[in-house]
Amino acid sequence: MTTITLMPPRRLRGIVTLPGDKSISHRSIILNAVAHGVAEITNFLIGADCLSTISCVRALGVNIERQGTTVRVVGAGRKGLCEPSEVLDCGNSGTTLRLLAGLLSGQPFFTVLSGDASLRSRPQRRITEPLRALGAWIDGCANGDRAPLAVRGVDLQGGSYELPIASAQVKSALLLAALNGASPLNLTGRIDSRDHTERMMRAMGIDVQTSETTIMLNPLSELRTPQALSLRVPGDPSSAAFWWVAAAIHPDAEMVTPGVCLNPTRTGALDVLRAMGARIEVANERVEGNEPVGDVIVRSSQLRGSEIGGALIPRLIDELPVLAVAAACAEGETVIRDAQELRAKETDRIATVVESLRALGVRIEPTADGMTLTGNADSGLRGAVVHSYGDHRLAMAWAVASLVARGETAIQEADAVAVSYPDFWETLHSLGL
Ligand code: S3P
Repeated sequence: MTTITLMPPRRLRGIVTLPGDKSISHRSIILNAVAHGVAEITNFLIGADCLSTISCVRALGVNIERQGTTVRVVGAGRKGLCEPSEVLDCGNSGTTLRLLAGLLSGQPFFTVLSGDASLRSRPQRRITEPLRALGAWIDGCANGDRAPLAVRGVDLQGGSYELPIASAQVKSALLLAALNGASPLNLTGRIDSRDHTERMMRAMGIDVQTSETTIMLNPLSELRTPQALSLRVPGDPSSAAFWWVAAAIHPDAEMVTPGVCLNPTRTGALDVLRAMGARIEVANERVEGNEPVGDVIVRSSQLRGSEIGGALIPRLIDELPVLAVAAACAEGETVIRDAQELRAKETDRIATVVESLRALGVRIEPTADGMTLTGNADSGLRGAVVHSYGDHRLAMAWAVASLVARGETAIQEADAVAVSYPDFWETLHSLGL
């Protein structure tokens, strides 16, 4: 267990080389595994979650080589995966478990997927129920609601499914299952989560059509194997958000995050920070790896409280812990609502954010679907001992809070950052801390 102790710096300035996007990194391995040809992926995220995906996909017989952040995947084709001889260990990664459960539902063999204690405590009925509706044979602990999950691949049907929650993991599990299905899949309902799977599938030649209200996937036929897709993974906006908030709340700061993914399904944090009065500039907008990308510059700002809810939530769900830190340093009240999904993350992020921000001196109350807090533009935060609870995004959010807290902040279980941002502490120290 590592504890990191931080004091607020007088100035905060830097140009940060961001790690590759976590969601896109996972998908680049999983989709290329069933493609035809060899893909070279650069700026791949070497976080524990994405390494779990690599090791699970290797256990399915796919040849994957990695040198630093460059990964080479030799596609096995749509029916080329093999039955693994051991349980697939997804570690802490919900994306690995849920996307692979979908893909393997349509592969002709048996698999068991499991992970660490946090992952085994997270809800899985959200995928097992709709997969069963497509004809999948999938079960697990707690009547199929908890990992370990057991999957016996079968010939799946397509069909229609109305997504009740805006979850890209659920949506992607269904799209991956339907790849080998017998008929088209139509998704309606909450399709408004991040769309990296749909974008990558299209770039590989898979027939996925999206409208405002529906996603339709035509299954692959014998003749149509997706083509391998080489790409450079754009910078992760969920990692960049820590530096954006750090710059906005610090009185003498300017932070530059070049090459960050600006996919509109991921930029809710920028919209909220702008609404809170943050000084944000976006430059050099371009397209990389089928995703919009740009350089984001944030400077010291006078923030005011805000309302965060509704359709914004799926566009910033992973950024809510650090946005709560921003709200604690903003004048007035902030209300976060419609975010009950926070309770199903690596920790119950409503409970853990409220408890930690209280320890840092914030007036904050939990609600069933979010939280309400009263901030202070002169940062009333005071240093304290806080926990990550093994949750990577909490460790980094408390590091950002420490940059403006009075006195010393000690972050326990700080090594949790390895899940999505292994260089986080090194980068923070390179900024002069
Ligand atoms: C992810 C989707 C989101 C997000 C997670 C990554 C993905 O989860 O919180 O960090 O890559 O599909 P949900 O699909 O559960 O909302």
